[in-house]
Amino acid sequence: MQWLFRTLSVYLALSLSLAVPSLDDRMMADHHGDHRVSSHHFAKMDRCEGIEFDAIAPDEHGVTFFFKGDHMWTGFHGDATLLNSLYKELDEHHHLGHVDAAFRMHHPADPSDHDHIFFFLDDKVFSYYQHKLEAGYPKPISEVFPGIPSHLDAAVECPKGECVADSVLFFKGSEIFHFDTRTKNVKMRPWTHLPNCTSALRWLEHYYCFHGHNFTRFHPVTGSVVGSYPKDARNYFMRCPKFGHGSDDTERERCSHVHLDAITSDDLGRSYAFRGNFYLRLSDRQEEGWHAFPISNTWKEIGGDVDAVFSYDSNLYIIKGEQVYIYKSGAGYTLIEGYPKSLKDELGIEGPVDAAFVCGDYEILHVIKGQSMYEIDLNATPRGVRKEAPLFFPKVDAASCGPDGVKVFVGPKYFHYESPMLFSASRIQPHPHKISLELLGCDH
Ligand SMILES: *[C@@H]1O[C@H](CO)[C@@H](O)[C@H](O)[C@H]1NC(C)=O
Ligand SMILES: *[C@@H]1O[C@H](CO)[C@@H](O)[C@H](O)[C@H]1NC(C)=O
Repeated sequence: MQWLFRTLSVYLALSLSLAVPSLDDRMMADHHGDHRVSSHHFAKMDRCEGIEFDAIAPDEHGVTFFFKGDHMWTGFHGDATLLNSLYKELDEHHHLGHVDAAFRMHHPADPSDHDHIFFFLDDKVFSYYQHKLEAGYPKPISEVFPGIPSHLDAAVECPKGECVADSVLFFKGSEIFHFDTRTKNVKMRPWTHLPNCTSALRWLEHYYCFHGHNFTRFHPVTGSVVGSYPKDARNYFMRCPKFGHGSDDTERERCSHVHLDAITSDDLGRSYAFRGNFYLRLSDRQEEGWHAFPISNTWKEIGGDVDAVFSYDSNLYIIKGEQVYIYKSGAGYTLIEGYPKSLKDELGIEGPVDAAFVCGDYEILHVIKGQSMYEIDLNATPRGVRKEAPLFFPKVDAASCGPDGVKVFVGPKYFHYESPMLFSASRIQPHPHKISLELLGCDH
């Protein structure tokens, strides 16, 4: 186990030193946020009801936090917690109940500011590291960011390469201030074409202005908006099960940044990706791309929220919790009599599992569960785990195997390996691909 933690911390250090936050939200949210319990009683806000956020910012682990009043949310799914459970001074010093803006400093001029989270409240700025307020803070904004006004609306960091120099963009009304973190030069630009942003986020090297429950993607240097915006944030940055009726499910499901639950191709060559209550199917005419449908249309015994799906011997296996459903693939899918059965009885492993796949005609099932991958011989009776290998990723959402190798899905990204063996042996992260852009053919 020790070496695994060591590998993990190297991985963490590595990913933090890169411009791209390579640890995704979901993964970390599951490790940090969802289990946090607040001792206070408070009226829980539901972000699926359409919230105008005060601020959105990643923390030092790349987990995206959403802030509204005294509430905050960790990652793209899960319930609200109280702001003061993590950032208590924000409340104590001001009793104001909301922040104006926040951002994470990943590319500071002063290395000691690396990965600090800056919160802006009225005319003050608070700097946090690992949820602790830095000594000397809060300070006047004018001292730390000279030339930047008080009562801001939003802030987002923009590294060199995406901006001309390492910068922070501050938003107030329709005025945008580019603050060069090294020279401290400030350039004000009136971007009146952009809605007034109440929060701003950099996500997968793209820049998003949030206004109302909508967002608009913009270019961080020119402010230009390309594509049809605004879009509803609940479709792309949140997992809102009841939301989306009447909107274009295909567009939403293809372009969502929320993690996939499962992905597979069946023996007839049909490819499916599962997320929440929907699945995406790659059209037989590939150029027509992916289309979304409710899962219950095709697998009526399954409402949604599957854990893993794989195909074997003309059957499609759907794993949900401690149960496995086996469907005969034909023109449609028919549940085989006697199913669902318990995962333990059918495959000799306990749930919940994260992902499962079979490569081609091999009879070996690979099951990913936490930080391990298990091999199960599907020809054996009874079936059971015959091999276990530790994995490099802390959390895998889905995985599939095809003629070109194994694809491993983690948050909004996927990673490609030539074989299951190379995947389990790998101790470095290969080049990440973006699911929405490179797999599902979305343009953002
Ligand atoms: C945006 O902010 C400007 C001030 O910079 C203000 O005049 C304008 O009314 C605001 N627009 C909206 C739609 O609130
Ligand atoms: C959100 O965008 C839609 C159009 O896509 C627009 O009709 C609506 O007024 C916007 N709402 C807010 C609160 O910005």
